[in-house]
Amino acid sequence: MTVLIAYGSKRGGTAGLADMIGAELVARGIQVEVRPAAEIQSADGYRSVIVAGALYNSRWHRDARRFTRRHRVALRQVPVWLVASGPLDNSANAGALPPVSQVARIAADLGALGAVTFGGRLTPDAKGLIASAMAKTKAGDWRDPSQVRAFATAVAEQQASV
Ligand SMILES: Cc1cc2nc3c(=O)[nH]c(=O)nc-3n(C[C@H](O)[C@H](O)[C@H](O)COP(=O)(O)O)c2cc1C
Repeated sequence: MTVLIAYGSKRGGTAGLADMIGAELVARGIQVEVRPAAEIQSADGYRSVIVAGALYNSRWHRDARRFTRRHRVALRQVPVWLVASGPLDNSANAGALPPVSQVARIAADLGALGAVTFGGRLTPDAKGLIASAMAKTKAGDWRDPSQVRAFATAVAEQQASV
């Protein structure tokens, strides 16, 4: 059975993070499907589900939120992890950052096994009024491969335990 990685991403950073997580799971012998959350019709039949969403103004990407609402019944029946991305500084890499309150609430409702915050990415050429202004001082990539590996190891260990 397959692990589904569903993501909500505005500027591609979280989509890339979902791919990084997927690649680490594949390297551990786990079959994965990495897909935009908005395009997923059914969350039935997966072994586990990881939902990743970008953070904007302390809110989780709408596609990730909607996905968890729409597929709540299926998600409550399998191991679920929530991933948020993320801070444009080292704060997520330095240690376990608590999830924003919205993600914490959804995690509690779904009985998620974890709610992890990863660093984010903002490219220097980011489009949008606010994003382009932010990019002048905050552009960079804080998605940490070693944090991704540690997360994938935890997920793989849980898969092996059932
Ligand atoms: C306008 C704007 C608001 C943001 N707000 C937050 C925030 O509240 N918390 C946070 O951790 N990161 C915040 N970020 C950083 C993004 O979460 C980060 O760039 C993320 O990697 C974006 O993912 P995406 O490329 O998948 O859209 C913000 C970025 C922008 C451009």
